[in-house]
Amino acid sequence: MAAQLAERVVGQPESLDAIIPYVQMYQAGLSPEGRPIGIFLLLGPTGTGKTRTVEALAEVLHGSAKNVLRVDCGEYQMEHEVAKLIGAPPGYLGHRETQPAFTQVKLNAVMSERNNISIVLFDEIEKAAGSLQRLLLGVLDKGSLRLGDNSTVSFERSLIFLTSNLGAREMARELRPEFGFEAGKVRCIDDGKGEGKRLEAVAVAAVKRKFAPEFVNRIDLMLTYQALNAAALERILDMQVTSLQEHLDRRLGERSFTIEVPKRSRQFLLKHGTSVEYGARELKRTMHRFVMQPLAALVAEGAIAPDSTIRFELSSSGKRLDVVPTRLAA
Ligand SMILES: Nc1ncnc2c1ncn2[C@@H]1O[C@H](COP(=O)(O)OP(=O)(O)O)[C@@H](O)[C@H]1O
Ligand SMILES: [Mg+2]
Repeated sequence: MAAQLAERVVGQPESLDAIIPYVQMYQAGLSPEGRPIGIFLLLGPTGTGKTRTVEALAEVLHGSAKNVLRVDCGEYQMEHEVAKLIGAPPGYLGHRETQPAFTQVKLNAVMSERNNISIVLFDEIEKAAGSLQRLLLGVLDKGSLRLGDNSTVSFERSLIFLTSNLGAREMARELRPEFGFEAGKVRCIDDGKGEGKRLEAVAVAAVKRKFAPEFVNRIDLMLTYQALNAAALERILDMQVTSLQEHLDRRLGERSFTIEVPKRSRQFLLKHGTSVEYGARELKRTMHRFVMQPLAALVAEGAIAPDSTIRFELSSSGKRLDVVPTRLAA
């Protein structure tokens, strides 16, 4: 399991190593009763793999990143929106329209034949209204939630992840003290643990300012994600190129071809797609713009011969990638 997660999430081994024992405790039948299997708060700079970790865990446990009951806390910024999570009591206005986000059926639906663990993600928790935190208190404490219609949902087979960018701005400053916007330049972490510890202190301080102590106390683990260094970002790009190739092979079958992205072009993609502020978050969009879209246009025109090799060459202007067929099928 550690290996399968590490294949998907780069550069955060300490977080992955900390999460795995909770899953194993559950699988061994040794998790405490009356509470969720594990409650994790993932902190750290933007675009460093917090949300990706939860998706990766779903892939490993269930075979698909879709097996996550995900609550985007940004959608629950207002107190009245939080009521939507649990639904209105019968007879109240809106009872029929409000399908609670947390029914037992929905929770069970993210389990799979492989596994009866349900993964629940409260993404960007700091954006939620205070009442969502209060509602969560009960879930974290008792492992259950009472809905508007008085039924209860059990979270005893759930791994609960909360992610937060709290302190992310201070962290960016910490990572790049000279300030000012410098897209594409990510400082290498060369001082071993020192920087990670500083980030952790910033994150934990921000959490303690924002959340009530009883909320913080119920969290099993607070994990601070590290800023990604240049080598980690390169590996993430490699992974994305590989998964694009797999996607082409799967979708195009016999008509598929090989893509080649030379080093210089990779540097170009990294320069545009990564930054201290957003980590690797923009990398997919950058791949889409400079690789996927031009490729799709050519595929749609039928301009790529099956079995050929297509190289993405840095253009002479250095502002985009040219698509160059290099080897035609024999
Ligand atoms: N550590 C990482 N390993 C692999 N991919 C990553 C990593 N960090 C970021 N990415 C890439 O960037 C995207 C955004 O990362 P995400 O996990 O959503 O960031 P955040 O930490 O802000 O939640 C992911 O979908 C993935 O493609
Ligand atoms: Mg995220």
